[in-house]
Amino acid sequence: MAKKSTWRKIITITRIGIILFSVSIALQAQDKPSDYLTSDFHQERRSSLRKILPQNSVAVLFANPVRNRANDVDYVYHQDPDFYYLTGYKEPHAVLLIFSESQKSASNRIYNELIFVQPKNKMMEMWTGVRMGPELVKSELAFEQAFNNSEFNDYNIDFDKFSKILFFNFQNDIRDVEYDQADLFDLKDQFKSKAKIPSDFNGSTQRIYSVMKDPKIEFERKKQMVFGMSRMNPRILSDPLIKEFMEAKDVELSMKTTDKIPESNLDVGTLPQLMGQLRETKSKEELRLMRIAAEVSAVGQIEVMKAMKPNMSETEVQGIHEFVFKKYGAEYEGYPSIVGAGRNGCILHYIDNTKPRLGSDLVLMDLGAEYHGYTADVTRTIPADGTFSEEQKIIYNIVLEAQQAGFEACKVGNEFGAPNKAAKEIIDKRLAEVGIIEEGESHFYFPHGTSHYVGLDVHDRGTGGPFKPNTIITVEPGIYIPDGSDCDEKWWGIAVRIEDDILITEDGWKNLSGLAPRTVEEIEKTMAQRSALDDFLLPDLKGK
Ligand code: GLY
Ligand code: MN
Ligand code: MN
Repeated sequence: MAKKSTWRKIITITRIGIILFSVSIALQAQDKPSDYLTSDFHQERRSSLRKILPQNSVAVLFANPVRNRANDVDYVYHQDPDFYYLTGYKEPHAVLLIFSESQKSASNRIYNELIFVQPKNKMMEMWTGVRMGPELVKSELAFEQAFNNSEFNDYNIDFDKFSKILFFNFQNDIRDVEYDQADLFDLKDQFKSKAKIPSDFNGSTQRIYSVMKDPKIEFERKKQMVFGMSRMNPRILSDPLIKEFMEAKDVELSMKTTDKIPESNLDVGTLPQLMGQLRETKSKEELRLMRIAAEVSAVGQIEVMKAMKPNMSETEVQGIHEFVFKKYGAEYEGYPSIVGAGRNGCILHYIDNTKPRLGSDLVLMDLGAEYHGYTADVTRTIPADGTFSEEQKIIYNIVLEAQQAGFEACKVGNEFGAPNKAAKEIIDKRLAEVGIIEEGESHFYFPHGTSHYVGLDVHDRGTGGPFKPNTIITVEPGIYIPDGSDCDEKWWGIAVRIEDDILITEDGWKNLSGLAPRTVEEIEKTMAQRSALDDFLLPDLKGK
């Protein structure tokens, strides 16, 4: 039996240990913003997914891969948005399993979800930052069952018994970290072997098979869908069963083909749909983050408008916007910034941003800040010298009118395509009026859609169905007239896009990025204002 003094020592050391641990947790907490989504949010999302999973199924999701930039430098890590939505976990090399019904482990433990994460590792943490490890995942992310990723391989899960195993199609672009037997590469391999996924498994073919078999879809519609799904990859049409199906003249013949499709519980088609159902409408917590992302992106646009000068470069414009949103604590761009002066604006996803001098060009700036995972997607197009030319103004005002018509179509119950239809009608009509096209002529001056969902992804998941309250979409018509177009030269090189993030509410819509000036008058007025950056003068470089 230990003496009294020994006990006292043990108690004192334990107390000091607890205090130090708490202080270290508190200090770590001070290093992070306090307004991330809560663990309650992520936990509730997991249970919402569980409720819509097919009976006797399991959904298996993986963290995003680490991407190498060059040599021994990786890109800044960004979690897969579905994984983040369901967990709040921001580290790589993890796998999540959500079961439709409760499961019992060999040791009689009941569970309906499991997560396997990076282990704690003092040495690695010194290089790349603190890892949560299973214990913090349990206490901070509200998981009952969390394990080191090295335990996944031996964890006994009988995948054969599930009617459906839901997962996202595999991409063959993950590096294998040689010294780690439980990195993402291995976790996927282990899953493939546990779930008996054949080495020649082709997710795209499987998705088409499930459309072919779906009793709810009418025969002709199925053919259209199969054709649409294989358009990007015509090799798929050479699959014998798909080929036979497409050649079938009637439903009976097509069923002879679909009967030959091997039964399988592997399903890569359902999970994207279910995640789209969940992510399409935003909760109160998500709306708060989206409002901030949109507002800081709009403030950034205002500051750029004030600061822009003809002798600035596209890169500098990008930098000013980034400086502003980072001042508000928005971590990254939600997508690579697009700053296209003059003809560069005609390249829809121009991300070089290398033009050294803006001159009197119209500058198209598609700039979205990401705040705690949620990104805005906001575009303004402004004249670098502060004044629109006559031609620029005419094109600008057509796009503005089209955008306004798009806004008005953002009503609960309207088809997803309604803003596009409204905007396109205006653009076609007005382009004919100013003589850029003939009336009724088809053209490529507005080559993209008007709307997409926006949220954790810039092109967010959704169902594409009629609008529901608390959905956020972009409304972003544009006109792009490249050099050499079949119209008067005076229009060449003009590119205009105006893009805002629109929240669809019970009784209308709200422009979350509306703080950024949109009309010609407002833009010119804002550009005439002084900027704090007018006085931010840097020395000439000796080496230049
Ligand atoms: N920024 C990409 C887009 O507007 O869709
Ligand atoms: Mn955009
Ligand atoms: Mn967009």
